[in-house]
Amino acid sequence: MGLSDQIEKIKKEINEHAISSKEEMEQFRIAFLGSKNKIKDLFSSMKSLSAEAKKAVGKDLNDLKQIANNKFHSSKSSLDKSPRKNDKKEDLSAPATSNIGSRHPISIVRNEIEDIFARIGFNISKGPEIEDDWHNFSALNFPEDHPARDMQDTFFISNDYALRTHTSSVQIRVMENTAPPIRTISPGRVFRNEAISARAHCIFHQVEGLYIDKGVSFADLKQVLYYFAKEMFGENVSVRFRPSYFPFTEPSAEMDVSCNICGGKGCNICKYTGFVEILGCGMVDPNVLENCNIDNDIYSGYAFGMGVERMTMLKYGINDLRLFFENDIRFLKQF
Ligand code: DAH
Repeated sequence: MGLSDQIEKIKKEINEHAISSKEEMEQFRIAFLGSKNKIKDLFSSMKSLSAEAKKAVGKDLNDLKQIANNKFHSSKSSLDKSPRKNDKKEDLSAPATSNIGSRHPISIVRNEIEDIFARIGFNISKGPEIEDDWHNFSALNFPEDHPARDMQDTFFISNDYALRTHTSSVQIRVMENTAPPIRTISPGRVFRNEAISARAHCIFHQVEGLYIDKGVSFADLKQVLYYFAKEMFGENVSVRFRPSYFPFTEPSAEMDVSCNICGGKGCNICKYTGFVEILGCGMVDPNVLENCNIDNDIYSGYAFGMGVERMTMLKYGINDLRLFFENDIRFLKQF
């Protein structure tokens, strides 16, 4: 084989030599760049050539050396960059070292409400956020022309469907599907077409409560809500009930708790009354039981619905409801 054929052969070997590990890189170095490498052998066989041929072959051999050198160095730098095979795998379960998130205050308070009621035997039920007229209004005894059905309050999706305006719709779904005794709370988002301000938003959170059994009375309702207020706001909280009206309860009431912020002395959160309303409640109207095929001669029950935002504001002394929805990290970091 002539010298130029040998040069071609080595060039091919260089190009075909795979370098995908440190070991292969070392084999390559020994073969083409080491102290006894193949290119060097060819240099020594140049001795017999004429001066002119030496010049040409010398150039080819130098080029060959350069090709081997270039391949070696570019492989070396890419192998150095890529993670080594024996490196330990990343521990994906390790806790993050910075900016570990925190729970949203609304979630903290909702979890707390769930825990308080779980301790006295309430389970959790859920319903859809897009609700039909029956579950959101009709079955809850809202008359056909009730103002709450008005476009001003409700986000309608079609004639028959709307975003639920309260979690009371879940009461109906539970009663339709479960035989008494029923003891459940239903946390969830609700939607109302309201102007957004420090005190109102078009999306907010409620927790609904429902208890249906034989011989349930208003005294039972009051007792459970006293228990709840003490667990939520502490032993020293004062509670008051005011008569109210809801289509789905009779009698109906609203419950206020003493203002946590000013201790009852009066501030802008309690509008200087010393009390803040946190929920509506009452005895489930017999019409509602009937709508859900529950015999109201045998069973009675109570229901309540509370606003999670209001309670969170009271618990943490927050005076603007919009803060809950802005995701400002300076606010969220504090919980
Ligand atoms: N659904 C009512 C509202 O959104 C709250 C409410 C009042 C729920 C009385 C109840 C209840 O279950 O009995 O304002």
